[in-house]
Amino acid sequence: MESNVRKKRIFSGIQPSGELTLGSYMGAIKNWVALQDEYDCVYCIVDLHAITVRQNPADLRRRAMEQLAQYIACGLDPEKSILFIQSHVPQHAELSWILGCYTQFGELSRMTQFKQKSQQHADNITAGLFTYPVLMAADILLYQADLVPVGEDQKQHVELCRDIAQRFNGVYSETFVLPEPFIPKMGARIMSLGNPMNKMSKSDPEGCVYLLDRPEDIRRKFKRAVTDSETSVRFDKEAKPGISNLLTIYCASTGKTVEEAEAEFAGQGYGAFKTAVGDAVIELMRPVREETERLLADKAYLESVYREGARRAQYLAGKTLAKVHRKVGFIAR
Ligand code: TYM
Repeated sequence: MESNVRKKRIFSGIQPSGELTLGSYMGAIKNWVALQDEYDCVYCIVDLHAITVRQNPADLRRRAMEQLAQYIACGLDPEKSILFIQSHVPQHAELSWILGCYTQFGELSRMTQFKQKSQQHADNITAGLFTYPVLMAADILLYQADLVPVGEDQKQHVELCRDIAQRFNGVYSETFVLPEPFIPKMGARIMSLGNPMNKMSKSDPEGCVYLLDRPEDIRRKFKRAVTDSETSVRFDKEAKPGISNLLTIYCASTGKTVEEAEAEFAGQGYGAFKTAVGDAVIELMRPVREETERLLADKAYLESVYREGARRAQYLAGKTLAKVHRKVGFIAR
């Protein structure tokens, strides 16, 4: 039966500030794919966010295109979901300015990611780095998203987005849908293979697995993964962060439960377990790598995807922005 009820909307994005990693796959993309039939999805390559730290222009361009190819190779379907590049939709920057006028300096100062990044880039702490979460709020609110599938590290930003939306609605009456973060139970925080106390990050080549890594590199990285001095493959985040991280990766790759995986490796040493985790990731990523290569050879197709994505995104974003302009008291264009 046809229904007039609008499907719930999803928005999420990833910065093309480095190659996509297994962390962003398990924390975000995997769920984006899983949710795309049930929801009306909008997925973005957030290049405006990427320039909050210095980027090499040629690399940024190449990575944005590769990221689009990888989105599709991971299973995002441009016929179902809107896939687009943030800088192609000017409403993001426009709404970001307006929302910035409804965001407190103190709120932005409390953002964990800002504190971390301003330490990492101490010589270049820009206004853009500081107001980054406002642009992220604009991304989400422009599409009236109900749900934002992200890894654990982005939860604070989605909560701030919700606060900003609530404040705006409070002043001007109902304008924005209040979004909820969607954090996966398994894989919300994949840790570095080199140091399981740190999050897996694209800026740490040996501690992270890139989606486009060759099988031999993936094998090597898992073989060298830091574990502990015991021998039992058992999930215990506090006492055994390395093994617990590998178990998470293994389960997220194979669909097995932690109990099943623990039983499978009972009595086996860490060597065999690490090899099995590496193999599972290699098999998970093989079709993604192959399909990405195929897509990158077809620039015309990728261009048609991002053009059509931008057109559809602009339509939705334009509607919200016009409403916001009306509410704050701007004269209609
Ligand atoms: P970014 O580009 O750092 O990361 C992309 C997504 O991957 C998740 N992620 C991880 N999940 C689990 N384990 C990890 N080690 C790991 N590393 C990364 C992140 O949580 C994120 O979901 N600010 C965002 C990008 C953004 C955005 C948005 C997201 C901009 N606008 C609007 C949602 C909605 C960011 O820096 O993600």
